[in-house]
Amino acid sequence: VLLLQVLIRRLRLHARARAKERAEVTSTVAERVGAIRLIRSYGEEGRESARFAAQANRYRKRVIRTQRFSSLTGPITEVFSGFLVILIIWAGTRPELLGLAQPLAPEAIIVFLMAALRLTSPLKTISSFPALMAVALASAERVFEVLDQPSRETDRPGEGAARFEREIVFDAVSFRYGDGDPVLSEVSFTLPRGKVVALVGPSGAGKTTLADLLPRFHDPTGGRILMDSVPLTRLTRGSLRGLMSVVSQDTVLLNDTVFANIAYGSPGATEAQVEAAAEAASAAGFIAQLPDGYQTIVGERGARLSGGQRQRVAIARALLRDPPILILDEATSALDTASERLVQQAIDRLMAERTALVIAHRLATVRDADEIVVLDAGRVVQRGTHDELFRAGGLYRRLYDLQFRDEETTLAAGL
Ligand SMILES: Nc1ncnc2c1ncn2[C@@H]1O[C@H](COP(=O)(O)OP(=O)(O)OP(=O)(O)O)[C@@H](O)[C@H]1O
Ligand SMILES: [Mg+2]
Repeated sequence: VLLLQVLIRRLRLHARARAKERAEVTSTVAERVGAIRLIRSYGEEGRESARFAAQANRYRKRVIRTQRFSSLTGPITEVFSGFLVILIIWAGTRPELLGLAQPLAPEAIIVFLMAALRLTSPLKTISSFPALMAVALASAERVFEVLDQPSRETDRPGEGAARFEREIVFDAVSFRYGDGDPVLSEVSFTLPRGKVVALVGPSGAGKTTLADLLPRFHDPTGGRILMDSVPLTRLTRGSLRGLMSVVSQDTVLLNDTVFANIAYGSPGATEAQVEAAAEAASAAGFIAQLPDGYQTIVGERGARLSGGQRQRVAIARALLRDPPILILDEATSALDTASERLVQQAIDRLMAERTALVIAHRLATVRDADEIVVLDAGRVVQRGTHDELFRAGGLYRRLYDLQFRDEETTLAAGL
């Protein structure tokens, strides 16, 4: 019994460590599944899978170790039930112990024995059954969730490395998700090198979907996108994504240090480079005030930072890569006027001297664009500069007035 106690105590220790490691593995998986676009657009698939393999291996070793202990407890219970048999026989033959007048009849003892032995094994099974079922069900659910994710992307023969010198042309691009309704219908426009094209339009117009076609998260279901006259479908995703930084609408930060989040996708970045990027993204100031500076852990999904701070970390990440092409899906969440200004400064530096496709919500970003493409329900309804579209009236003017009114009220509230 003492031995069993020692064993069980060790087993419990191991099980606790194992549960902790399992939690780490699952939270890594959950986090990385949620950040799949970030991982893909920053070309980190290889390093992520190596990191995960190491973690899973550590967990596997731990499982084997606990298993070794728990397989010992089985035999020990067997030995224990052996002693139980001896005890029953011994007690049954000593009537004074049970307060009986005469020893139990041999038949009675046998009945006791049978009952005791028959009870032990099914009891063991029954007691472990609910736990087993719960684990199995939960696991099955997760497996299906992950299976629903699109599988690994593979390069097809005939795909070459991307080069970008002149322009990107959207040529009558249409797109639908699966067999749903068309989300984009014959969208055409040109993004020349060194220029900024802004996409504006009501929510659900298809702006994010359109921007997702550039790094080939999806391929058009109709029409073509050409980079220097080569269709994107003839270029490898890796080389294409190497040319661009993506700042997405919902900022994705990983539960790691500020430094690691900025250096994500730029392996080998030096401290000085990371700090320069943070400086340019108007993020250096608040990072200096964090308890551990660049080594501060940002928490799950960056929970320990404010919305505006998260955006600036994501912008610093994009700046550090210093790619020729930039895809910026401005966050719609409202910021207070001070952080709004800091974020806008960061965006301005990000777009300077770069080819940019910007999904714009901020007036300043829209006004500075070389061309504005107005999308409504997946179609281009207007194109031109801010001044042209402003004078022309129509959807752009309506969106602009709507935002301008909001802007005035927030300004008034801020003063
Ligand atoms: N993964 C998806 N599967 C199916 N439908 C989708 C998917 N993503 C978006 N859609 C649909 O496509 C349409 C366009 O969505 P999209 O995200 O491109 O809009 P948006 O212009 O970026 O809107 P917002 O300004 O709110 O970000 C919407 O009707 C949306 O429901
Ligand atoms: Mg969007």
